[in-house]
Amino acid sequence: YLEIPMALERTLSIIKPDAVGKNVIGEIYTRFEKAGLKIVAARMKHLSRAEAEGFYAVHRERPFFNALVEFMTSGPVMIQALEGDNAVLKHRDLMGATNPKDAAAGTIRADFADSIDANAVHGSDSLENAAIEIAYFFPSTDVHAR
Ligand code: PPS
Repeated sequence: YLEIPMALERTLSIIKPDAVGKNVIGEIYTRFEKAGLKIVAARMKHLSRAEAEGFYAVHRERPFFNALVEFMTSGPVMIQALEGDNAVLKHRDLMGATNPKDAAAGTIRADFADSIDANAVHGSDSLENAAIEIAYFFPSTDVHAR
């Protein structure tokens, strides 16, 4: 028979200040675990303006950049690296569309996000960006084999 190889990937997840404020870190972690994504690094952090601006540097010219940085520095965030088969796409499917109005029923954003500004979670959009984003928050010694 043909064995189709699955790609073991890592992706970066951020539970944003709105979702941390709603006390749903555990509910979101449960969704990751039930989908087969393992948490291989994690830290809670209140981002400085410079840290948030650096993280979102690719969006610097976008009209919403300042609002995004203000929101992301408004309270602590929970940051984790997730590992699993096709982790980047799997995680984006769990999150749902950027705008919760467009997010499919049962996704994290449909269930926990209030608006496109306060949309509960971030996830890397590509394998290449995942590596950059994980390295932005975690030294390689803090990302664990599981
Ligand atoms: S794109 O075009 O795919 O790069 O843009 P997108 O992924 O939709 O959005 C990039 C990040 O910006 C946030 N965003 C916004 N914040 C505030 N206001 C508005 N209008 C807005 N539109 C997009 C969006 O949530 C993305 O943040 P992350 O943290 O990457 O999910």
